[in-house]
Amino acid sequence: MIEWNEKYMVGIDNIDRQHELLVDKINHLLEMHEKSEDLHVISTLFIGLIHYFTKHFEYEETIMRGCNYPGLERRKLEHKIFYNNLEKTKNDFINGEISSLGYIIDYIKLWVMDHIIIQDKKYANKSLLKVNT
Ligand SMILES: [Fe+2]
Repeated sequence: MIEWNEKYMVGIDNIDRQHELLVDKINHLLEMHEKSEDLHVISTLFIGLIHYFTKHFEYEETIMRGCNYPGLERRKLEHKIFYNNLEKTKNDFINGEISSLGYIIDYIKLWVMDHIIIQDKKYANKSLLKVNT
């Protein structure tokens, strides 16, 4: 489980809310996966999580564009690679080619920690600087 706390806050309200919801969705998926809920339940949660990640990435890429964040292209590429990994794993799971999501959930957890704590704080600081000057 990821425990939400203020060290994850980047200072932009909408982004903080989205991150908190992402963490909730990851935890929910993990919980259901550990309980070995049926394939349909897990797949639905996983698809919902991927969808929410996509919306979140679009939203923050717009903010990055708005403050001329120099790391935008790199971040877009990272988002795309992450998304592709999730999509591929989701399809493999649905098609029965893999039976567990344990590995990908660990990957998502680690990725999200880095994403929020390190990467998002960089563009958030630049965006807040622009708002405040
Ligand atoms: Fe983010």
